[in-house]
Amino acid sequence: MGMSVTISVATEQDAEQIFRLQYLCFQSEAALYGNYRIDPLVQTLDSVRAEVASDCVFVARLGDEVVGSVRGSVTEDGAACIGRLCVHPRLQGHGIGARLLRAAEAALVEERGAKKFRLTTGHRSEGSLRLYRRVGYETVGTSQGDDGVPMIVLEKQVPAGSYAATA
Ligand SMILES: CC(C)(COP(=O)(O)OP(=O)(O)OC[C@H]1O[C@@H](n2cnc3c(N)ncnc32)[C@H](O)[C@@H]1OP(=O)(O)O)[C@@H](O)C(=O)NCCC(=O)NCCS
Repeated sequence: MGMSVTISVATEQDAEQIFRLQYLCFQSEAALYGNYRIDPLVQTLDSVRAEVASDCVFVARLGDEVVGSVRGSVTEDGAACIGRLCVHPRLQGHGIGARLLRAAEAALVEERGAKKFRLTTGHRSEGSLRLYRRVGYETVGTSQGDDGVPMIVLEKQVPAGSYAATA
């Protein structure tokens, strides 16, 4: 891949690139569901900025370019909700998505005391479902997003002991 892709915590300055990347990456999901009003496509830049400030947000960088992102936050029941995982289409299939997910999981445990991880994905999104199951997520139910797309809810328990040592 030439230059190497690094994973780091997102800064305020990354919000606009994350916003644009998200818009690009989720086009394939919109096409899959015939719905161009899915949440990641209608989220405003201000809302992305607010999440960068409050949530656990990571980016994958290739040089100065943000080529991947993920975010998560801990809910009242101690579950960390992880979402908006996306990787630039030209760089998919090289393990960047899995690396972003691991970085978010580790930070959510170590910095925010997550007891388990939860994520949701569209029921037809086979690539994402394969990735999530491969890294230990199991289906726990279904939900209906605001955008009307039926979603599958997956969870993974935090392994006992130090997250970095066991994950
Ligand atoms: C879902 C998404 C984030 C995955 O990102 P990614 O970087 O391609 O993910 P990975 O590379 O870690 O895994 C994808 C595949 O590449 C394979 N892969 C991982 N590392 C690899 C490597 N070094 N060489 C070759 N293949 C590799 C994985 O085995 C996996 O294969 P599979 O699809 O058969 O399971 C990306 O496809 C995306 O942005 N999709 C659009 C947005 C979206 O749907 N997000 C999820 C919403 S919940």
